[in-house]
Order: sequence, then structure tokens, then C-alpha cells
Amino acid sequence: MDTATWEALRELAMQAMECAYAPYSRFKVGAAALVDDGRFVSGCNVENAGYGVALCAECGLVSELVRTGGGRLVAFVCVDGRGEPCSPCGRCRQVLSEHAHPSMLLAMPSGLKTIDEVLPDRFTSADMDWVSATTSGDRP
Ligand code: THU
Repeated sequence: MDTATWEALRELAMQAMECAYAPYSRFKVGAAALVDDGRFVSGCNVENAGYGVALCAECGLVSELVRTGGGRLVAFVCVDGRGEPCSPCGRCRQVLSEHAHPSMLLAMPSGLKTIDEVLPDRFTSADMDWVSATTSGDRP
């Protein structure tokens, strides 16, 4: 992917970050991604007085992805309030992986990484295949 597209993703992530609702942590996050059909999607974190129910920026991004037609994420950028790359939390890596193109690149603080590199041996729908192969779903 070319530099201009990465820059456009970073700009979109910055715009999303400015929209963040983070009065409790004061840690604003913006995420943006390119979809395999050329669409761009983005999201920001939305906190809550019930701290544990805060929504990460990646959740908003994936919600927009699904709402606007789905598809596979091919490139992903996440920024903090300074505009520096932000590392997606473990839960968000799992959330993103469900919708990731196998070759998706994530702009991590340590550089460009694939989803396999940031979440190796992850749980996927394939791990549940044995259930449909049995009649009851009970342990064989
Ligand atoms: N946060 C995200 O939005 N994405 C991540 O992957 C890491 C953490 C948010 C959640 C919370 O609003 C704030 O950053 C501090 O944890």
C-alpha cells in the first residue's frame, strides 16, 4: 500500500480521535482502516461512568464496517491523543481479527505487523467446527 493511503488513514484516525469521549482516562483514541472494496471506516473510544463498559475505538470502527456493508480490513491505523501509533488492546485484536483480510497490515508502535503477528494462534470459528460435526454439540 502506498504512503498516501497510510497518510490518509492516519488523518482519518486523527479526526476520529478528536471525537473521542474519554472524560475518565483522558486518553483519547482514534482508529481508521481501509476495507478491501476501497471504503474507509473509523471509530473513537467512548467511555462511561461505569468504567468497565468503555467502548474502544476499534469497536466503533468494526461497528461502522458491518453497518456499511461488511468486507475485509486490509490496513489499520490507531492513534493516541498525541497522534502517535497506539497498540490495540488484546480484546480489540480479537475483534479486528474476525474481519481482517489475512494480509491485513496494522501500523503498530513497533512498525507494520500482520494480524498473525499481533495475535498468533487466536481463537476462530474453525475452533468450533467440531460442534456442527456432532449431533448434539455435547463433548464427544
Ligand atoms: N482504548 C482504545 O480505544 N483502544 C485500545 O485498543 C486500547 C484502549 C481506550 C479505552 C479507554 O477509553 C482508554 O483507551 C484507556 O484505556
